This record gives sequence, structure tokens and C-alpha cells, in this order.
Amino acid sequence: MKCRVRNYSIITYIAIFLTLVAPEPILAQGDGGDYQTARHILAARCSFCHTALPQEDGLNATSQPPAGVTFDTAADIRKFAPRILLLAVKSRLMPPDNATHMSNEERALLGKWIEAGARTP
Ligand code: HEC
Repeated sequence: MKCRVRNYSIITYIAIFLTLVAPEPILAQGDGGDYQTARHILAARCSFCHTALPQEDGLNATSQPPAGVTFDTAADIRKFAPRILLLAVKSRLMPPDNATHMSNEERALLGKWIEAGARTP
């Protein structure tokens, strides 16, 4: 008898992982529309996909960040701020299908920081 191993794609594993991630609120009280808040939101809602760094579990170790977009450093975040505003605040195309359960409040805070000039330390 032949044993067939199904070859799931990496996207399938990511989708399964994301459905297991609870939609936890990530904002602490007193968070405002500043860089630290923005960085925190991007890390929680975007960096699962948008990182050049290998994930601890090795899922992303060999893949490239989507569209070459990463939010690993303050310089990355500042560089992509206009695209973040368009895709995560105005159009809500990111995260795709809101896979990481981003809240409206998080989108509003990101927008507030970017529209105030996207200043980083
Ligand atoms: C589940 C994985 C995933 C998550 C989470 C995710 N993205 Fe993306 N992102 C993608 C993929 C895939 C593409 C490439 C889409 C394409 O090229 O059509 C992309 C492309 C982009 C781009 C480049 C496209 C452009 O037109 O500039 C930006 C900017 C971006 N994402 C921002 C974000 C932001 C901000 C977040 C968090 C709020 C986020 N993404 C969360 C997968 C993700």
C-alpha cells in the first residue's frame, strides 16, 4: 500500500496559525497616537508576515517579506508610513482578510500618528 503525504503550502500553515491566534486587544490604557503605539500595533498585527527576521518557529525562515515590506526598524516604518496609511487605515486591504484581527481603534491610532508626521525617535 502506498502512503501519500499531503504537501500543504506554507500559506496553509500560516492560515491555520492565524486562526489559532486569539483576537486579544494589544493596547494598554493610555496608549496614544505616537510612535511607540504605532510600533506596537505593527508588531502585533503586521510583522507576522512583514519581517525579514526568521520566525522563532522557522515558518518564515526561507521566505521573503511580502512586497519587500518590513516593519523591523524605525527607519522601515517611517519609509512605509504613507503605504501603511493607505492600506491599513484608509482602505483596510491590510492585513489581508484582517487575518490578525486588527481593531478599528488600532487603525485609528496608526492613522493619527502618520497624519501627525510619522515622527520616530
Ligand atoms: C497574513 C500576512 C500579512 C499580514 C498580517 C499583513 N500583510 Fe501586508 N502584505 C501581505 C502580502 C501577501 C502582500 C503582497 C500583496 C501584493 O503584492 O498583492 C502585502 C503587501 C503589503 C504592502 C505593500 C503593498 C503596497 O501597495 O504598498 C504594504 C505597505 C503592507 N502589506 C502593509 C501591511 C500592514 C500595515 C499590515 C498590518 C496592519 C500588513 N501589511 C499585514 C501580507 C500580509
